[in-house]
Amino acid sequence: MKKKIFIKTFGCQMNEYDSNRIYDSVKNIGFEKTENYEDANCYLLNTCHIRDKAKEKVYHEIGRVKKIFRLKKKPLVIIAGCVAQAENQEMLKREPYIDLVIGPQAYHKINDTILNHIEKKKKIEETEFDAISKFKYFNKIKNDSGKVSSFLTIQEGCDKFCHFCVVPYTRGPEYSRPFRQILDEAKYLADTGTQEIILLGQNVNAYNDGRYRLSNLILEIEKYSEVKRIRYTTSHPKDMTDDLIEVYKKSKKLMPLVHLPVQSGSDKILSLMNRKHTINNYYKIYDQLKEINPSIQFSSDFIIGYPGEEEDDFKITLELIKKIKFINSYSFIFSPRPGTVAADLKIIDKKISMERLEKIQSQLYDNQIHMNKSLEDKTINVLVENLTEDKTKVFGRSEYMTSVIFNGKKDDVGKIVSVKINKSNRSTLFGERVFSSNKKVA
Ligand code: SAM
Ligand code: SF4
Ligand code: F3S
Repeated sequence: MKKKIFIKTFGCQMNEYDSNRIYDSVKNIGFEKTENYEDANCYLLNTCHIRDKAKEKVYHEIGRVKKIFRLKKKPLVIIAGCVAQAENQEMLKREPYIDLVIGPQAYHKINDTILNHIEKKKKIEETEFDAISKFKYFNKIKNDSGKVSSFLTIQEGCDKFCHFCVVPYTRGPEYSRPFRQILDEAKYLADTGTQEIILLGQNVNAYNDGRYRLSNLILEIEKYSEVKRIRYTTSHPKDMTDDLIEVYKKSKKLMPLVHLPVQSGSDKILSLMNRKHTINNYYKIYDQLKEINPSIQFSSDFIIGYPGEEEDDFKITLELIKKIKFINSYSFIFSPRPGTVAADLKIIDKKISMERLEKIQSQLYDNQIHMNKSLEDKTINVLVENLTEDKTKVFGRSEYMTSVIFNGKKDDVGKIVSVKINKSNRSTLFGERVFSSNKKVA
């Protein structure tokens, strides 16, 4: 019988990248990917620890798996990702249904760990930080994404220690993959159908392999003719260096959406958070990029109700959102994380945080709706990713990452086509394919 693995992924794009690479790895020991976990004889949960209740979600999920498999043979259960890293041995002790625990910088050991367990039935935990071996291994096994738009992790971990954040503890110290290794992976993706490469890192713009920076990578990858679009995420304002800003002048393939988390509009809160930049630094980056290309748009992450946030701090955050007109941002109430500096700070009233979050989100949604409405009756460039589920239309993305649905054909998949937008809502643009040489606006 063929061995089947099901992976459920929580958290950021870096976890998605890792899950894809785990599939690439375990197929070498006879596992086939399944989308249906009732079919699986290996169930892997790739977890996220960024906000509250992360751990509980994992145990809840295992409870569900237990129920589904109660009349069948128990699958091999693996916990990977950031909760695995944070909880390690504890998970094996608390939940005997778990067989293996493997942290995000130990995936080069995934095949051996599984085989070892199958042979000896021993519970194993692997959580050392060894990003060098992880990526050497990933480089050997090829990234078989096969997708029109593919993720490519270039940098892992974080040395910034923002007071609210678990990432430095769960992903370890900052590490940049060697330049050549990344180019090899990008080339392979380009040769196997990828048209858009999204470069990833918890601090992607801190990329520095001792010689090359993110700006060099972008300009090098854009030489591959098959690659039509390049993006990168997630950035830190402190690492928006001049060379990276200059790339917006030089590059023909770097997309005009900059995801640059700001967290708060108040310098007082930024300092309490240990963010290491001011709001003026942020506006300066905004002005520089807008001067290079006025059609560049920004998206961001916000933490609302950080300990010490007063009404005035909140108001400046709202003002910042109105001024920068962020599109597509993420906003959450502060969630105290064990082991971080902010873990024990006095939390502000939940009701106040909730009200502030609602106001922020309403403004962010207005920005999004406004941006999408402004595209109605215009013709835009869309990179087509796939057919819609009912196969009657196609799905793609604008240069600003907005979902676009239109009446295309299977043949359009993998192409950049012109689409006239005739309707929109907050998250999606709807249109029809145009074949004439209409003016491109976005
Ligand atoms: N490196 C990126 C940066 O510096 O902005 C962020 C990476 S983090 C994985 C993604 C987002 O999660 C952060 O931008 C922040 O808004 C949010 N986040 C992290 N810790 C949080 C916490 N304790 N409570 C609420 N949101 C949090
Ligand atoms: Fe977390 Fe980003 Fe701060 Fe690093 S820079 S600690 S990943 S929020
Ligand atoms: Fe979550 Fe880990 Fe990413 S905590 S956001 S999966 S780096």
